[in-house]
Amino acid sequence: MEPYYLTTPIYYVNSTPHIGHAYTTVAADVFARHQRQRGRETFLLTGVDEHASKVARVAAEQGLAPQEYADRIVDAWRALPARLGVSNDFFIRTSDDGHKRFVQEFLQRIKDNGRDDIYQDVYAGLYCVGCEAFKSEDELVDGKCPEHDVEPEWIEERNWFFRLSAYQERLLALYEERSDFVLPGFRANEARSFIAGGLQDFSISRAGQPWGVPIPWDPEQVAYVWADALVNYLSALTYARPGEDLVPRFWPAVRHLLGKDILRFHCVYWPAMLLAAGYDVPRQLFVHGYLLLDDRKISKSLGNVLDPLDLIDVYGADAVRFWCARSVSFGQDGTASIDGLRERYERELGNDLGNLLSRTTAMVARYRSGTLAAVPSDMSEIAAILAPLGEDVAARLDVFDLTGALERIWEVVRALNRHVEATAPWQIAKDESRAAELDRVLYDLVDGLRVVAVALAAYLPETSTRILAALGQPAAVDWGEVAYGRTRAVDTLEPAAPLFPRVDEPTLAA
Ligand code: MSP
Repeated sequence: MEPYYLTTPIYYVNSTPHIGHAYTTVAADVFARHQRQRGRETFLLTGVDEHASKVARVAAEQGLAPQEYADRIVDAWRALPARLGVSNDFFIRTSDDGHKRFVQEFLQRIKDNGRDDIYQDVYAGLYCVGCEAFKSEDELVDGKCPEHDVEPEWIEERNWFFRLSAYQERLLALYEERSDFVLPGFRANEARSFIAGGLQDFSISRAGQPWGVPIPWDPEQVAYVWADALVNYLSALTYARPGEDLVPRFWPAVRHLLGKDILRFHCVYWPAMLLAAGYDVPRQLFVHGYLLLDDRKISKSLGNVLDPLDLIDVYGADAVRFWCARSVSFGQDGTASIDGLRERYERELGNDLGNLLSRTTAMVARYRSGTLAAVPSDMSEIAAILAPLGEDVAARLDVFDLTGALERIWEVVRALNRHVEATAPWQIAKDESRAAELDRVLYDLVDGLRVVAVALAAYLPETSTRILAALGQPAAVDWGEVAYGRTRAVDTLEPAAPLFPRVDEPTLAA
């Protein structure tokens, strides 16, 4: 099986994380954890992008040198994956020596490729610091960048350029040959038509500012932030494990996860830069949509920036992860809200899942004094419900259908709840002659819950562990466990504590 290397964008450190950053990071963790469950060698990378003009600006406002500023704020960014229960294998900072060294090597490789792909010219044009991107007049609305609602700045400098225009044909051929290079399909179309519209060379260096990675053959200039940041996906592999180069193992088996705002950089510029430097292009890119809060873009000026850590304090990491995966169909734009988080916490996590565990364990405790007999049956209705689950969920997660795979698991949660009502074990328990039937119903419920816990392990790692422990089952979450009839007999089951206790009125302002 080919290894699975997954990346999130590296986030700008000009402010602290908001829920939009948590969103991509959680999604990436679900995919990575799931592949590990299937026994695949997996590497998950996340981290921060430091050499941006906007970072230098915020540092100056605070009277700090950019590096000093970045060193202070980086802990807030490390806390994001840590508190969300994300299983990243490395956290990259673009100010790491290993990264800076590799960026220089990478750019030098392009310069030396014999095709004159890097040349000097004068750049004169508009630059949006918010996007950290050069803008053409036709991208502006009323003279302003529509994304940031600010007028871009006029820049005129002698820079080093990358000959992107020379890669138009190769990129078009790539999109032609690999219909799943970029997912979802409508995003591939977007990238393809941008390429087909003609590619402009772009500046890969900045002369006017000292914050960044020096251009090796012209140390007066630093690498343009995107020419530095994109390279993180490769550089990290060269120094994440001291003394070991992971590039041969994980490149090009890489999948990039990103929001639609940075599609062009990833789906057009990056593959061209890789080809120019003599590397294979990534295996796949998945472009997701935007999470809106109460129908509005998340932004500081709108005052609706939600700190994911505050949400975790109230609801716990798993509830926030659940909400990220479930509130909006992954790939599309969609609106989410704190009310929605609360609602799902109570109704889906608390009632559908939490109560199912409480009821099931309470019944085994009450009717069987905590003893669960191992009595699987091929004829069981639950066996039929569970049989296709593993394959269905895996197939969805292989194509980044984060929301669809979770819904598929939730169908089983709902089916188990219906099964409790339909079989009414409290009635069966009244009749001694139906003891075998009761054993079967209880076994099927426990087994169904065990399967759900394993299937949910990538989404709700903490909860999954708690459910398996409450059922007296081993903690192993190999994907093969998503199968009927593997529950072991137990004789010490106790009524489980609530998985998602009611939370007091949240004090969070939405
Ligand atoms: N530093 C660049 C990326 C360089 S990657 C080589 C950057 N950073 S960022 O801090 O602005 O983060 C952008 C990413 O954050 C988006 O692509 C997306 O993954 C995530 N999101 C930020 N706001 C978001 C929403 N409102 N909704 C969903 N994701 C969002 O761009």
